[in-house]
Amino acid sequence: MKGVILAGGSGTRLHPLTKVTSKQLLPVYDKPMIYYPLTTLILAGVKHVLVITRPEDAPSFKALLGNGSEFGISISYAEQEKPAGLAQAPLIAEDFLNGEGFCLILGDNFLYGSGLGRKLQNLNSVEGATVFAYKVNDPTQYGVVELDSNGKPISIEEKPKSPKTDLAIPGLYFFDKEIVDICRALKPSPRGELEITDAIKEYMSRGKLSVEVLPIGTAWLDMGSFESLLEAGEFVHIVQARQGVLIGDPITAMRTRNSSK
Ligand code: DAU
Repeated sequence: MKGVILAGGSGTRLHPLTKVTSKQLLPVYDKPMIYYPLTTLILAGVKHVLVITRPEDAPSFKALLGNGSEFGISISYAEQEKPAGLAQAPLIAEDFLNGEGFCLILGDNFLYGSGLGRKLQNLNSVEGATVFAYKVNDPTQYGVVELDSNGKPISIEEKPKSPKTDLAIPGLYFFDKEIVDICRALKPSPRGELEITDAIKEYMSRGKLSVEVLPIGTAWLDMGSFESLLEAGEFVHIVQARQGVLIGDPITAMRTRNSSK
């Protein structure tokens, strides 16, 4: 399966930390931020990864991750000229995708939990789209989904002021090949961006959207604020020190993946 990490954006919420470097290269305890979403993709069974960055950051990402051989995968690179929205990712990735579905992860999303890799591997060849839902205290900063009593999605809103539910949508998405045409047809939102939420809504209106609620015990953090950046670092430190495991280490993830085959 193919995977795309969207690691551009202006990172203004983290100024001055991100004035001269990319957010996704900042340290999260003992690793650069991008190692965490990269590890999630590896655990999901992804073998070919495209990393999308700002043009000025591309040399640093290439120096850090290379062609992926160190991690047993292939990594290629593409650039996003301007942060014009998450739904630009499938358009930038079109050649890399070559008509196949894929898994998209945002470069600032941290996911960790028992059984997560296996769950994601099962989504390998989804028809339509699959997104996740995660219960949070304050959903106003995220995409928010409403489910009916059968778990079917009935509404989706981006950063609603009065959310209908407390189920946020993490930045990890599985799309079939239709995503490219769907994103191409999108119009920019009032904030001037092509919203991934609008693409997900289109799948919902076609009856082709599945939502999987992540179990209690799964850790999900969007590391885009000072608080969540610190929290992610603390989480990694505490679990690693206590259990002697490495979190967000692509090489360890590849060994885990190979041994669970
Ligand atoms: O973290 C999950 C949330 O991510 C979802 O619940 C929301 O539905 C989704 O819109 C998104 O919200 P954010 O406000 O967190 O998106 P943000 O603009 O911070 O961008 C997320 C990441 O993508 C960040 O690492 C920067 C990168 N990015 C963003 C934009 C707009 C790009 O690489 N290019 C872009 O054009």
